[in-house]
Amino acid sequence: SRRNILICGGGNGAHCIAAIASSTQPEADVNVLTLFADEAERWRESSQKAPLTATRSYQDGSAYTFEAHPKIITKDPSLVVPHANIIFIVVPAFTHQQYIEAIAPHVKDSSIIVGLPARFGFEFQIQRSMGQNAERCAIASFETLPWVCRIEEFGVSIRIMGTKDMVIASILKGSRYEKDSLNIFNEIQTIFGESPKIKLLSNYLSKPLVSPDFIHPAILYAKWKDWDGEAVAEKPLFYQGVDHKAAQYLNDLSEEMISTAREIARQQSGVDTKDVVPLIDWYKNHYSDQLVDDSSLMRALQTNKAYDGLVHPMKETSDGKFVPDFAYRYLSEDVPFGMAVQKGIAELAGVKTPVMDEVLTWAQEKIGKEYIIGSKLTGKNVPETLVPQNYDIANIGDLFKH
Ligand code: NAI
Repeated sequence: SRRNILICGGGNGAHCIAAIASSTQPEADVNVLTLFADEAERWRESSQKAPLTATRSYQDGSAYTFEAHPKIITKDPSLVVPHANIIFIVVPAFTHQQYIEAIAPHVKDSSIIVGLPARFGFEFQIQRSMGQNAERCAIASFETLPWVCRIEEFGVSIRIMGTKDMVIASILKGSRYEKDSLNIFNEIQTIFGESPKIKLLSNYLSKPLVSPDFIHPAILYAKWKDWDGEAVAEKPLFYQGVDHKAAQYLNDLSEEMISTAREIARQQSGVDTKDVVPLIDWYKNHYSDQLVDDSSLMRALQTNKAYDGLVHPMKETSDGKFVPDFAYRYLSEDVPFGMAVQKGIAELAGVKTPVMDEVLTWAQEKIGKEYIIGSKLTGKNVPETLVPQNYDIANIGDLFKH
């Protein structure tokens, strides 16, 4: 039977992968499910007039235009989900739950559900909504959307301005999913085409442990923990402003994650945590040609060309000065959906994380939340986070019971 690809979402990323999948898989059916407002209707109407046009530009300055013909564009999951072999969820994370609940009753056995991108916790959201049926599926989680893309005209044209060379993903297979991970990997790679190249992590816990989710909170902490409350004349540099003290926190946090990985490998035989490397190595892997000086973590952050000129998130005061904007996503997203999850995994492993506790305690106060009390994740706002403890997981063994 023909391959059936379902794209969930109606934003930039959804347009982009709809176009790419149509061009790399001309034989397949590519369908779109978008639940938001009247997007399905609008996209369907424009598709009846003309195909979706994608313009993809490459680093050498060349560009290539192609057309895509999504077959069914709908807001009704029962029309498209039951036929899908592979389902890409390509929406901002705050709408993941809505999409997962909508597709859950209709997902067929042996399908692959792809979070593009997905935070750690996406796996648990799916398992909770699908129950036993999740055991017959595979879940792939991507670290980021590998294309830089913008809709030019909704349902009509999409611009793909850049493609990452490499993108990291992890796969969690249900206990009754039959194919092996390599198969899943190949399936997604053929849909992406030549690039990005997918790099598969050896297990799904490595992604949260090795991701520098703590980097924004820790740099903010180092900079502002002793702040006297006085507005400053200029917005301070964010990464270029990293000093020895900030770098020390980052190295310590990275060490705490490595200890956690080591302890998980000890408790759970057969789990390979080799992907959880020191933060400096993560930078070398991700930004190899952009680090002017990689002799230390501090120098790597200060000299990463990709970070050039980035400043602390600041609000302007009435007299033209600046104060830190702690409501910015560096804390409001990176703490509940990133750092708290790292803490949650360390707690399950029974690893002490004094530095993480110190940064979390400061950061949660700045966003008016309570996640940890002392060194325990028992604060009243824990249910709003993606920590595994929210999903009936009580120890490291439970993380691998599926
Ligand atoms: P987007 O901003 O284009 O997504 C908007 C879409 O999300 C809407 O069209 C709608 O389908 C859905 N949506 C928005 N509000 C909603 C609501 N209240 N209820 C239900 N659905 C709603 O997002 P985009 O650009 O497609 O990005 C998807 C993810 O990929 C995001 O997490 C983004 O951070 C990430 N990303 C995007 C990149 C890009 O170049 N577009 C690059 C790297 C990452």
